[in-house]
Amino acid sequence: PTLAGCAKPGNDGINPGTLSSKAKLPKPFSIPLPILKPLAPDSTDAQGVHYSMTLKQAEVEILPGYRTKIFGYNGTFPGPYLDVHAGTPMVVHQTNQLPVPIVTHLHGGLTPPSDDGFPTDLVFPQALADMADPGMAASMAGMDGMPSMKDPLAHLTAVQRDYVFPLNQRASTLWYHDHRMDFSGVQVWRGLFGLCVLRDAEDDKLPLPKGEREIPLMIADRAFDADGQLIYPEKDPTLLGKPSMDKSIAAGAQGDVILVNGAPWPYLEVAAVKYRLRLLNASNARRYELKLDGPGGGEFVQVGSDGGLLAAPLTHSTLHMSPAERFDVVVDFSKYPVGSTVTLKNSAASGGPGQVMQFKVTSHAADDSSVPATLSTIEKLTVNGAKRRLVFALDGDQWHVNGKAFDPAHPLVKPEFGKTEQWTVTSVERHPVHLHGAHFQVTGRGSGGLGEYDHGWKDTVELSPGSEITLAVRFDSYRGRYVAHCHNLEHEDMGMMATIQVV
Ligand code: C2O
Ligand code: CU
Repeated sequence: PTLAGCAKPGNDGINPGTLSSKAKLPKPFSIPLPILKPLAPDSTDAQGVHYSMTLKQAEVEILPGYRTKIFGYNGTFPGPYLDVHAGTPMVVHQTNQLPVPIVTHLHGGLTPPSDDGFPTDLVFPQALADMADPGMAASMAGMDGMPSMKDPLAHLTAVQRDYVFPLNQRASTLWYHDHRMDFSGVQVWRGLFGLCVLRDAEDDKLPLPKGEREIPLMIADRAFDADGQLIYPEKDPTLLGKPSMDKSIAAGAQGDVILVNGAPWPYLEVAAVKYRLRLLNASNARRYELKLDGPGGGEFVQVGSDGGLLAAPLTHSTLHMSPAERFDVVVDFSKYPVGSTVTLKNSAASGGPGQVMQFKVTSHAADDSSVPATLSTIEKLTVNGAKRRLVFALDGDQWHVNGKAFDPAHPLVKPEFGKTEQWTVTSVERHPVHLHGAHFQVTGRGSGGLGEYDHGWKDTVELSPGSEITLAVRFDSYRGRYVAHCHNLEHEDMGMMATIQVV
C-alpha cells in the first residue's frame, strides 16, 4: 500500500489527526472498570494447557445505549484474558468465522516462527477457503501485492488452526493481536486484541499486591460515528482489497474516546492500600504521558517492563507509553484520604483523550504487600556479534525500514543465533520499534545513557523524531523467520516492517 493522498506528518513526526466521535459519549468516570476474568482452559494434557477461541463478528455495548459491531476473539471487546504459567505450553485452537483472513501474534512471546503470527501465515475465512482456485482466493485476500513472494500460498491454512506457544520465558505482561499483512491496523481497531499475563515462581513469591489488588489495564483509543459504530480511516468496507488511505491516517488512527479494558473513561473503587497495575498501551497509534492526579500528587513505582520484572523498582511521576509497551507498576492508594479520587490523566493530549480513568478511594483495609528493593536479576548483555543499523523513515509516500517496504520473502537482516548483536536504530519521525523472536536491552540513546523508561528487558521502544538508540539483542530461542516493525499499526500496514531471518 502507498500513502497516496496522505499528509506528511507535522514537525513532531506526528500529525495528531484525531478522529472525532459523533455518538453521544458518557460522562467520564461514570462506568465501572471491567475486571478481566481469566478464560477457562478446555483441558490440560501432556502437550500443555488448551484454550479455544472463535473469531467472529458481534455487537457489543461499548458506549451506553449503542450496539457496536466488532471483530472479536470469542466475540468480545477486548478478547479473552489469558492467565498462564511459564513452563506449560499454551495451545490456542482458533476458528476464523470472520469474513476476512486473520493471523494471531502473541506479543512478547518467545515463539517458534511457525506459530509467531508471521503476517502472511493467514487463516482464511470459510468463503475464501471454499474457493476452488487458490490463486483467486489469495488475490481476494489482498495478497496480490506481494510480487516478490515466491510461494504466497505456502503458509495458508483454512478456517482453523492451533497456535502452540511454548511460554518458556520469564513472567511478563503479554498480549495477543491480529498481525495480518496490510490490515493489522483496521483488524485490531475492530477488536482483535487481548491480554495474556504470564506468571512464574519467581514473580509469584514476591510480596507484591496480588489477587484482587492486581489489576490489568489495557488502554486503547477509538472513535464512534453517530450510530455508535467504530470509525476507521479506511475506505474499503470489505477489507478484501488493498487499503485505500485517508490522509488522517499518516499519524496512525487515533480516536477521541479512551477505553480501559473496553470501557470509556471508567472508574475503579479501591481500598487505601497498594495495587499492582499492569498497564498496556493497546492503542493503534496513540502515545500517552500518564500522571496520577490526586490530593498531593501521585507516583508510579515501576516493577516490570515489557519483558518482566526489573532488577529494582523505579519511581516515576509520569509514564510515557508508546503503542504496545507494558508498564507493571505499584500505586499506593494509602497516600490518599478515604473519600478522595485519583485521576489517571494523559498529558500528551487535551480534551477527551486527556483523561483515562479514575480511582475512587472508598475504604481502609489491611495491607501486607510490599515492594522489595531487589526484584530480580537481569543478565547484562555483552555484544559479541554483528553491529547493524536500522533506519525507520518515511520515504516519499512509503513508510520504510532501511529504504525498503516490508518484503516477506527477503530478509533485511540475518542475525546469528546465540550471538549478542548491537543494533543502532534511527528514526526520522516518531516510531515505536518492536522486535519479534527476542527481547532486547536498550544500551544508549544518542550520545547519552538510558532514558527513564528504557530499563529491563524490552520488546518495544519509542524513538522520538530524529533520535537514535542502541540496543543489544540476542536471538537465542529459535531460528527462522520473524519481523521487526513500527508498532504504530498504520505505519506497519503501510510497509514499515522488515523480515528477519535468524540463522
Ligand atoms: Cu504487537 Cu509484531 O506485534
Ligand atoms: Cu511508525
